[in-house]
Amino acid sequence: MNYNQSELIINPNFHDLPRFKPKLKLGILASGEGTNFEAIISDINNNRLDAIINCLIVNNIHCPVIERAKKYSIPVVFLNHKEFESRSQFDKEITRIMKHKRVEAIVMAGWMRIVTKYLINEYKGRIINIHPSILPSYKGINAVQQALKNNSTITGCTVHLVEEELDSGEILVQAALPINDFDTEEVLVERVKSIEHKIISMGISIAAKKWRNQD
Ligand code: GRF
Repeated sequence: MNYNQSELIINPNFHDLPRFKPKLKLGILASGEGTNFEAIISDINNNRLDAIINCLIVNNIHCPVIERAKKYSIPVVFLNHKEFESRSQFDKEITRIMKHKRVEAIVMAGWMRIVTKYLINEYKGRIINIHPSILPSYKGINAVQQALKNNSTITGCTVHLVEEELDSGEILVQAALPINDFDTEEVLVERVKSIEHKIISMGISIAAKKWRNQD
């Protein structure tokens, strides 16, 4: 993998991801574009990540990630959170589907819902999120906008385990890039995404080594 000189990826020598046998069985939660979802697929297809995506759950019937899933024949389930009486009822249904699909770990790849302790406990240490900032800076929504507003000169992304407190679980891997003077929010969002795509599978692998008890 090629790294742009101005980008810093913690643990940059981790080019070859650990092998997993049997392959990791992943479930993905996504609400939007799905570029991270596609980055995972591309790592799988390039034989970089030993994983299978058993299921994609979306909560927005119009999100472009659905088309990406179709392209790779990945089963998609649409769950409308508005039809559930509580967040935890919604998460119970997610858990039921993920277990039915024999998913061993969940990746939140642009999932615009806060998850409850129900899901977190059912998949303890096996829910992974990607966030567009160097946590613990700029938690919550509009992280890229927050970095620009604060005149930060550097930002990046984090792959971390999910805990009940928002964007606060164990950090698995991070990457950083300089903010250019002329970066608009739109441009910076895309620049951050481009480094997210480089580390998402690393984060999944680092977490999986722990739950698979691999050294
Ligand atoms: C990413 O920036 C991710 O960090 C955030 O949501 C965005 C999802 O982008 N949680 P995409 O749908 O993967 O393109």
